[in-house]
Amino acid sequence: MTKPKVLISRELYDRYDKIGQILGSIADVVFTDRQKYEEQLADAVGMIGGRITEDVLQMAPNLKIVARYGVGYDDCDVEAMTRHQVYLSHTPGVLSDAVADMAIALLLAVDRQLVNCDAYVRSGWADRAPGRPSFGVDLRGKTIGIIGLGRIGFEMAKRCVKGFDMKLIYYDLYPSKRAEEELRAERKSLEEVMKESDFISIHLALTAQTRGLIGEKQLKMMKKTAYIINTSRGPVINQADLTKVLSEGAIAGAGIDVFEKEPISLDAPLLKLKNVVLAPHQASVTNEAREGMAVCDAENIAAVLKGELPPPNAVPEQRGMIFKK
Ligand code: 8YV
Repeated sequence: MTKPKVLISRELYDRYDKIGQILGSIADVVFTDRQKYEEQLADAVGMIGGRITEDVLQMAPNLKIVARYGVGYDDCDVEAMTRHQVYLSHTPGVLSDAVADMAIALLLAVDRQLVNCDAYVRSGWADRAPGRPSFGVDLRGKTIGIIGLGRIGFEMAKRCVKGFDMKLIYYDLYPSKRAEEELRAERKSLEEVMKESDFISIHLALTAQTRGLIGEKQLKMMKKTAYIINTSRGPVINQADLTKVLSEGAIAGAGIDVFEKEPISLDAPLLKLKNVVLAPHQASVTNEAREGMAVCDAENIAAVLKGELPPPNAVPEQRGMIFKK
């Protein structure tokens, strides 16, 4: 009997050999180039990847599950997937440490002007030479404002409070009893968080409600000395507005891992600014997180192939649903 085909983009080559270990005996695992995806869709039963649209679903009538390689699934049309009875799973939890670590890295890098320091040393470190990066600020006692206190936001908050002795305020639709008890967190309105924080870190999923949530109006509420960090999704912040307030010096700086369009265009004015530190959507790129994501995806596909429905990490919109396909 032929085994069901599971399609994996070659970009996610299985460096940990975990996908093979979990799925090897029950599936025919096929690695393919993104460009050649379409040719492989017709008989695929499972898939690891993202960017699932109605068109992709039309080409994949046998598909039962897509395991999103990541926690955010804003690039997948969940409504269409549910209509086609295709599960969408994702990878909550396994990358929270990696993303929070990156948010801390960006926060310190922009505060202490690490990239400019590096360039200064490399281009000739002369006493009192122009271009020497100027003062940063200590983190102790400063206020961190977390926008979106889910799993990743909590990890970031924990690092700030327990590691750096910062004061924590947050904006979220739901109160976090745990953060209020363990981290002395105070829940505030978005406006209060924008106004009162010395550092803001965004940890929201991209939805119709969060797209463009932070624009010029919100950014201009920030202290002139404050910094904003985004490791969530680019479109949560209006990039043109961010560029404007940064170039006007209306805020001190930004640490940005995610962009409205990725890769960001080389002509983007954001790239010209000195008070930003940028990373190429790199927050989950650690050995531990990527291995965890591969394992999580493979386990969700295995569950569906074995008929253990719904898969353990089905997205919330599909929780509890049993597809008969
Ligand atoms: C991944 C991410 O790099 O988990 C997410 O939502 O943004 C990242 O961890 C991205 O999903 C690549 O597939």
